[in-house]
Amino acid sequence: MTDDWNDYADGWDDNNDVRYYASRAFASLDEHLDLCGKNWKSKRVLDFGCGTGLLAEKIAPHVAEVVAVDTSENMIAVLKAKNLPNVRAVHGDMLAGNVQEVEIGFSGFDLICASSVCAFLPDYRGAVAVLAGLLHKGGQFVQWDWQASDDNGFGLTLHQMKTALEAARLGSIRVEQVFEINSDARTMPVLMGAGICITE
Ligand SMILES: C[S@@+](CC[C@H](N)C(=O)[O-])C[C@H]1O[C@@H](n2cnc3c(N)ncnc32)[C@H](O)[C@@H]1O
Repeated sequence: MTDDWNDYADGWDDNNDVRYYASRAFASLDEHLDLCGKNWKSKRVLDFGCGTGLLAEKIAPHVAEVVAVDTSENMIAVLKAKNLPNVRAVHGDMLAGNVQEVEIGFSGFDLICASSVCAFLPDYRGAVAVLAGLLHKGGQFVQWDWQASDDNGFGLTLHQMKTALEAARLGSIRVEQVFEINSDARTMPVLMGAGICITE
């Protein structure tokens, strides 16, 4: 993988593994939070590192609004071209503070999702803490990442995920393998990490 996600925007939606990852992430999200139930209809969701919006477009029909943020201009351009009615696609780096608060309604999210993003960040623990701070009390944080077999491998271990969610002071933490992807004769497990904001 390159550091420049712009190179992947064209054709991202045509990649079977990428589409499968998004559909299994959504299925595990629905299983975890009953997202397709009527309680979510008035809720606001942040899809952090949304890419072309493969997860956002699955969530959007079940909620009031999805704010979809990504640092890749090309990924956001693909998402904008989809013209999804209640998805606000925003280019910028929330972690660096260069997304205008007024532009995206920066806080008070009911749900923040990060699908295959966190393991690519230079400061994963710091990022989770920032994102957790954008939830209102009772809001949910859910991430999915490749499972690393040890602390030095690519991806995140169960332990890394659990301790990052704890350090962000989330409650009701759940970390487990939710699906796996078979690609290039390898089986790659995917972890879901979830927690609830328990502070004001
Ligand atoms: C593996 S892709 C996943 C995209 C999408 N979530 C999906 O599942 O199809 C990782 C994405 O994270 C984005 N990303 C990386 N660092 C980011 C940051 N600091 N803030 C927002 N997005 C970021 C990249 O631009 C890229 O679109």
